[in-house]
Order: sequence, then structure tokens, then C-alpha cells
Amino acid sequence: MTALVSLWTQVRRQLEAAGVETPVFDARLLLEAGAGVKRLDILTDPRRELSETQVSAVEALAARRAEREPVSQILGRKEFWTFELAVSSSVLTPRPETELVVQAGLDMLGPDKPARVLDLGVGSGAILLAILSERPQARGLGVDASAAALAIARQNSENLKLADRVEWRNAEWDAGLEGPFDLIVSNPPYIPSADIEGLQPEVARYEPRLALDGGVDGLDAYRAILPALPRLLRPGGGFALEVGAGQSEDVMALARAAGMHAVEARRDLAGIERVIAGRVD
Ligand SMILES: C[S@@+](CC[C@H](N)C(=O)[O-])C[C@H]1O[C@@H](n2cnc3c(N)ncnc32)[C@H](O)[C@@H]1O
Repeated sequence: MTALVSLWTQVRRQLEAAGVETPVFDARLLLEAGAGVKRLDILTDPRRELSETQVSAVEALAARRAEREPVSQILGRKEFWTFELAVSSSVLTPRPETELVVQAGLDMLGPDKPARVLDLGVGSGAILLAILSERPQARGLGVDASAAALAIARQNSENLKLADRVEWRNAEWDAGLEGPFDLIVSNPPYIPSADIEGLQPEVARYEPRLALDGGVDGLDAYRAILPALPRLLRPGGGFALEVGAGQSEDVMALARAAGMHAVEARRDLAGIERVIAGRVD
């Protein structure tokens, strides 16, 4: 028999040795998921004995994490905005900074008006579903080049009871799309191709390349998306795009060159210019 606290220590050490950045936290999450215990159990009853089945379930999850598979993919879920999303190796795990795109989008949509929202590169559905959850009269279209990603987004829309207000399209960016939209949001792939191998193994090995690779300078997707916005947005409509660290000036220049107005950058909690927003006349 193994006590809860001994297994936690064992997993923590295993993850530390594997170079995982947050071994204590991750060990707790894997213990909760594998052994079916609650956080409170670990705190209040650390000497509780676990069955062999519970121990082997936790050890199997820990072995995956030690290979640097992200916790989100092991658990199949990730918190975003006010809810939890299903995730898999087919989608980028939504990041906290992407909530800034949601906020910028909401700021541009009236609180209680019907609106049509487009999310280019919708992935798990994170941005679009968060906006629809806050704007009951809005309808959305999520586009992605990955059919596997769209299957996850669809599942998330059903889980969140938003499926009746959203449509999906398996396509390249704006190909074949017709407006007008009131708001266009996107968190496109923006990592320069040559930088991908140097990222943490959790990202480089496990997240879909299609979700990461922004071409030689990381800006390919912005060059494809921004020129399409004037055609797709209704007059006065707005856009909000996530950008990588150090890309804001270039993306603002591309937005202005595409004829967008009131172009501005918003900073994330780390002080990085993370979202470029603007409007079309
Ligand atoms: C960085 S992920 C963002 C996912 C999600 N919107 C989020 O913020 O968590 C970029 C997404 O763009 C999609 N994508 C990449 N190239 C594309 C293209 N040419 N046309 C449409 N979608 C594309 C990827 O499949 C991926 O789901």
C-alpha cells in the first residue's frame, strides 16, 4: 500500500528530474486525476492509503508527463475564460493571455445587440465561444484549416450549450468567406519556423505545428488575414488579433496598410503588447 503523500513526493521528484517547470502543481493534478482524490483529501488526509489500481493509474499519467506531454493534453481539458474546454493534441491549448483577445473583442461589441463574429484559426473554440458566452445575441463562425481542431471546437460548443449559435468551416483563412461581420478575432500561428524546435518540449513536440508555425518571420498569417478584413467587416466593424512578443509594430503597420483605422496595441499582464485591435471605416 502507498500513502497519498508518498506517491505525491515520488511523482514530484520524477517530474523534477524530467525538467518539468511546475513539478509540485503538476504532481497534484495528476494525483487528483489518476487516483480520483480531491485537493482537500491531499491536504487533510495525506496518509490515506491508495489501492494498487489508483497507484498504477497515477504512475501511468506521471510517465506521460515525464515525457513532457502537457498536463492539458493528459487530462484532456483546460480552463479558459469562465469555463473548461476539451483539448487534445489536435488543438493549441488555450493560453491565459488569449483572454485579452476576448476582452478586446467584447469591448468592440455592444452588450445587447445581434452581431456576427468570425474567428479565423478557431482551434479549440476558445476565443469565439468565450465571446458568444458573454453576448447572448451574437452568432459566430469558426474557421480552421484543421478538421480535427474543428471537431474539438464543435464538441466544446455542445458542452457549453452554444452550438445553436455557431457554425464551422474547414478552410484556409478567408477563402470563400462572405461578410459582413461585426467583429473578426484571431490568434493565428506566429512563431518563426526556425524558433519552434527551441521551444519547450511541451510545445515543440506536442502542439500541432499548424497552430504554431508563422513562416520565416512569424508574420505569414497576418499578411494573409489583414488584407481580407476590409472586405469582410461591415463599416465600423472591429478586429482583434493576438501577436507574439515583439511583433506588434509590424502587425500594426500591416493593419494600417490594409486600410484599418484606430489601430492600437494592448498589453498583457507581463507588459507585452499582445493584441492589435482596430476598426474599418
Ligand atoms: C495559435 S492556434 C489558435 C487556436 C485558438 N484560436 C486559440 O486561441 O487557442 C492557430 C489556429 O490556426 C489554425 N490555422 C493555421 N493555419 C491556418 C490557415 N491557413 N487557415 C485557417 N486556419 C489555420 C490552426 O489549425 C490553429 O487551430
